Amino acid sequence: MRVAVIGAGVIGLSTAQSIYERYHSIVNPLIIEVYADRFTPLTTSDGAAGLWQPYFNDKGNLQEREWCKQTFDYLVSCLRSPECVKMGIFLQSGYNLCKEPKPEPTFKDTVLGFRKLTERELKMFPGYSHGWFNTAIMLEGKTYLPWLMDWLAKRGVKFYQRKIGSFTELQKHGADVIINCTGLRSGDLQPDSEIQPARGQIIKVEAPWLKHWILTHSEGSPYSSPYIIPGSRFVAVGGVFQLGNWNESNDTADHKNIWEKACQLEPSLKHAKIVDDWTGLRPARNKVRLERETILCGATAVEVIHNYGHGGFGLTICRGCAQEAARLFGQILEQKGAGPKAHL
Ligand code: FAD
Ligand code: BEZ
Repeated sequence: MRVAVIGAGVIGLSTAQSIYERYHSIVNPLIIEVYADRFTPLTTSDGAAGLWQPYFNDKGNLQEREWCKQTFDYLVSCLRSPECVKMGIFLQSGYNLCKEPKPEPTFKDTVLGFRKLTERELKMFPGYSHGWFNTAIMLEGKTYLPWLMDWLAKRGVKFYQRKIGSFTELQKHGADVIINCTGLRSGDLQPDSEIQPARGQIIKVEAPWLKHWILTHSEGSPYSSPYIIPGSRFVAVGGVFQLGNWNESNDTADHKNIWEKACQLEPSLKHAKIVDDWTGLRPARNKVRLERETILCGATAVEVIHNYGHGGFGLTICRGCAQEAARLFGQILEQKGAGPKAHL
């Protein structure tokens, strides 16, 4: 059984891991190959801030909520292992702030210690009248991706740096199942009118005195109002959410706008050393596409599992989606007569 994963961001690598974990002892041989034109540290997943938090006003998709929760619980379970340092996983607490009353976020029972802010806490953030505090998890792509690649390589997974032009290309190369984790550029392999870029830009600064993340929420797109997220080395200061903008370069006007608003929110940032700007394109979609499809390559059919369109929450949802993709892979095995039902 030969599996070709396209994409080496957090979604592709997590999916390869879940498929290996669940089936390597059942399917022999299980050959997993990962193809990508960008590997760590050059993927969107590498540059992301790395905070576990779904959209504040999500669209009510219960499956996505469940996959986010599964990811949170998985990451918490990883904290029990000394490996968590090498994985880029750690706990981090912080504030969600609003200028108007808003319903409590749907992830309130997933995160740890969720509570309303007190009047005294709100006084620290002039202009914000409502908010919550909780402990969440950080999962830093620039650490997690190399860890995942190492984990997979040790188990025989092979990596190929190249751009894939079509599913047929991989089918001709011998793939029985293709896992499509191409994020924003999924449309190059199969037209999808729903996928579009949501451009983001963050300023990375040195400000080791900042220990809590602060996310603000106003009307409009998620992450278009200021946020400050301390990571293991740098603090990520954002943000913008520009739908339809394919520009991967840093923009001076965006930098100025982000910086001014963030300094209003956290005046001590004026003493921070700016290290870098980074621009990334979120793979925005009405909902994550996570489903099976049988595709005809000439006269031969190939099974494809799509797993893309994770917007601004790819790190937040990665493990839940990977496990679901692995379950779909199990269905294919069953239909091909290659795997026991007990593992579906
Ligand atoms: P990517 O990381 O973009 O990987 C796509 C892979 O597919 C790459 O390896 C690419 O080379 C490959 N590929 C595509 N097409 C082809 C092809 N034809 N042939 C070969 N290879 C191909 N999410 C969070 O959960 N928490 C955060 O704090 C967070 N912060 C963010 C901050 C910013 C500014 C931005 C922009 C995003 C942030 N996100 C965050 C969102 C997160 O980065 C994305 O949801 C996530 O990276 C998507 O992962 P992915 O693996 O689908 O895509
Ligand atoms: C983002 O900019 O996409 C983002 C920021 C903080 C948490 C999650 C996502």
